[in-house]
This record gives sequence, structure tokens and C-alpha cells, in this order.
Amino acid sequence: MPIEVNRLFFALWPTDAVRAACAEAARTLRMRMQPLGHPIPAERYHITLLFLGDRVSPQREAALRQAAGLVRAPPFRLELDHAGSFRKARIPWWLGTRHPPEAATRLHDLLRDAALRVQLAPERTRFVPHLTVLRDAGTPLPPTQVAPIVWDVDQFVLVRSRIDRSPVEYELLERWPLRASADPAPDPQPDQLTLPL
Ligand code: 2AM
Repeated sequence: MPIEVNRLFFALWPTDAVRAACAEAARTLRMRMQPLGHPIPAERYHITLLFLGDRVSPQREAALRQAAGLVRAPPFRLELDHAGSFRKARIPWWLGTRHPPEAATRLHDLLRDAALRVQLAPERTRFVPHLTVLRDAGTPLPPTQVAPIVWDVDQFVLVRSRIDRSPVEYELLERWPLRASADPAPDPQPDQLTLPL
């Protein structure tokens, strides 16, 4: 039987205050640069930690959630201090950081390991933390300084992108706290994860 559409990704989910500050930065950028395209509504802002694919089976999703629950990683501070874009389809403009904290990259790596452990095969792309604020800009945005937005990140989330809805909606499936490593978890053994195949 074909696997139903189920687009999942791990993300950092901004607080309301960070969301509002990013929306203000995006508005200022639009006024200065007058891009084409569609602003992303502030309630959908996020930073993708790891994209997991469009057809994650219910069994893999369940195993992935277990694996994510075993991830131990400390909180960190992100300073969104510049805007930029990727030269890819639908040219996204985003807010990012010139100094990605090592802890953010480490969290990405741990989630990638968790995904591989449940036999998902996420793309091997370099993790560049970015919060997309606009798509289809028409032209790329050269690196542009913005007034720094400080975000103390203390959790990560699993999100389902409802691409069957228009406009696309995001469902927050689960949140996990980031904790300083006072109680390191043992390395999960493969047989701790139940993956009915
Ligand atoms: P972006 O917005 O940061 O460009 C849900 O689709 C999220 O996963 C989006 O934030 C999107 O990134 C990210 N993503 C990464 N790789 C993707 C892919 N191959 N297809 C769709 N979304 C992807």
C-alpha cells in the first residue's frame, strides 16, 4: 500500500516575542528593499532543524518520536543579526545568524542520528539556521545587517506540514525541552526503539 503524504520536520519554534521582533525586522526589510513575493505570516515562522521527508509512515513517525525523546542537548542563545537569501527556487529571504552556536549544530546532528536510527534518510545538507520571512522575492538579498534579535532556545519541536491544505498549515506534534547536561541519558541501543517494519 502506498504511504500517505506525511511531511514532517524538526524545528525551533519562536516565542511570541521573538516572532513579533522577526515580523518587525521583515517589515523593515520589505520597506527598504521592496521585494516581490509573499511575506510569510508571523505565526508560521520557524527554523527548520531537519527536514524528514514527505511520506513518513506512521510506524516511523512513532519510532522517531521515541528517538527524539532520547536526545539530550543543552539550551542555547541564537542572535538573529542579519538577513540573506538562498539562490534556489522561490528565492526565500530569511533572518539568520553570523555566529551559529555550536549547540545548534550539535542538536541538528543528534536529530539526524535519531532519524537515521529509525531508518529515515534525511538529506545531507549543511545546517544553516535560518528563519524564512518571504518567498518568491524575485531577486536575492545580499547579506544585510538587522538589529539583533536575541532568542533563548530551550526546546525543539516536531511539526507536520499540512500540504493538503491551502494555505499550508503547520501542526505542532510534540515538544521536547533542551536541558543542561546534568543528567546525561545513556546512548540509546537500537533495540530500545520499537520500529515495527
Ligand atoms: P525553508 O522554509 O527554511 O526554506 C517545511 O517544508 C520546512 O522544511 C520549510 O521550512 C523548509 O525550509 C524546510 N525544508 C527543507 N528541505 C525541504 C524540502 N526538500 N522540501 C520541503 N521543505 C523543506
